[in-house]
Amino acid sequence: MTSHRTTARTTAEWQAADAAHFLHPFTDFQGLAKKGSRIITSAQNIYLTDSEGKRILDAMSGLWCVNVGYGQQALIDAATKQLTQLPFYNAFFQTATPPAIELAELLAEVTPPQFNHVFFSGSGSEGNDTIVRMVRRYWDLLGQPGRQVIISRQNAYHGSTMAGASLGGMSGMHAQGGLPIPGIVHIQQPYWYALGRDTSRDEFGLVAARWLEDKILAIGPDKVGAFIGEPVQGAGGVIIPPRTYWPEIQRICDKYGVLLVSDEVICGFGRTGNWFGCETMGFRPDLMTFAKGVTSGYVPLGGVMVGDRVARVLIDQGGEFNHGYTYSGHPVACAVGLANVRLIQQLGLVEHVRDDVGPYLAEHFAKLADHPLVGDAETCGLMGAMVLVKDKVRGTMFPDALEVGMVCRGHCFANGLIMRAVGDRMIIAPPLVITRAQIDEMMVLIRRCLDLTLADAQRQGWLH
Ligand SMILES: Cc1ncc(COP(=O)(O)O)c(C=O)c1O
Repeated sequence: MTSHRTTARTTAEWQAADAAHFLHPFTDFQGLAKKGSRIITSAQNIYLTDSEGKRILDAMSGLWCVNVGYGQQALIDAATKQLTQLPFYNAFFQTATPPAIELAELLAEVTPPQFNHVFFSGSGSEGNDTIVRMVRRYWDLLGQPGRQVIISRQNAYHGSTMAGASLGGMSGMHAQGGLPIPGIVHIQQPYWYALGRDTSRDEFGLVAARWLEDKILAIGPDKVGAFIGEPVQGAGGVIIPPRTYWPEIQRICDKYGVLLVSDEVICGFGRTGNWFGCETMGFRPDLMTFAKGVTSGYVPLGGVMVGDRVARVLIDQGGEFNHGYTYSGHPVACAVGLANVRLIQQLGLVEHVRDDVGPYLAEHFAKLADHPLVGDAETCGLMGAMVLVKDKVRGTMFPDALEVGMVCRGHCFANGLIMRAVGDRMIIAPPLVITRAQIDEMMVLIRRCLDLTLADAQRQGWLH
């Protein structure tokens, strides 16, 4: 990369200091040190600017979180005011701060009716650690301590702490550090294109949900505490389940009394065209993890919405729940969360996704399936994914080793677009404030990058 001085240091200077001291998450440290990081220096609305002064359309909302877009003054003002008034106080010793109380109240209002209580954490991973402890505590209090097992799904992402990574179904993560921890097991994901194309989507949805019933019966219903899933698997490649899947999961959980947990860290706060993904997918969770979109990523905040079924037991049969974080209910994070949720309400962003840009994106994104490299392309609200295939007529997928997704991602970066690659799936989740004109702009960039990737694949002889 050439070096211009648009910030305090040149790009090369930033990259050298970065390589010398900063260990990035989910990164091959040596590889990145050789290549050099891309340095992002500012952002506005849906556009980032890098240290070379280049403008980039952020079709991933940062990391699925900047739902209201960059530069929202209401959030900046809320943080500034709270930092000035009370930058920190804890919620441990019979104390509380007004922003935490008000956000808890507002979250009870915007979440489905069974949710009236919240337990705050600092991130989605911590939220999922809380889920594991809370599920097991619930069954202990009910005199069924044997119900320890939590069932999750392969290729799920639930965070990177020991419990989060164990709940997740990423084989690469399990391969490091002796995971999963005991009592967490996985079933197959509802990925129709890869696993079920010999049946209809609806039939496959039922088949995939019944893998849960098989697992519950194999383990013994008296040993299973909960099932956890993302309404739409995000980091696993935006796997949108058939519409029959979640209602059948609900039926099975009800039948065996298993707690149903919705990890809404990505799907929450309007992403799927409703406030929460469970509403879009038609199920009624007992617990919900949230993070990211609660503050639009402006400051870290996460937590667990605790449904009445669980809350009543924890509260009424209680005793002390020996769990919590220094930053549970952090006043600055909660003040920003409040401003963010109110802004989503004021701007009508959930309706904007549901009635306007969601359907508009769906229509235009689906047309990508015409492209010679694309096997399937679909969206749910403002999440979209396409699968790049070797032979679209036969549906032959590329061997993993070719890293065709990474080739495409490289073209995206070079052309001013952030689109993420998960294996051979290219995924987007743009800020909810995106307009139709900006979707048009994004689609032009996506097509250009697909054409460039196709040309590469042809040149390399990957297609035949
Ligand atoms: C569904 C889901 N759950 C949990 C997490 C973990 O959240 P965090 O990175 O804030 O710990 C993520 C992060 O991407 C996620 O997508």
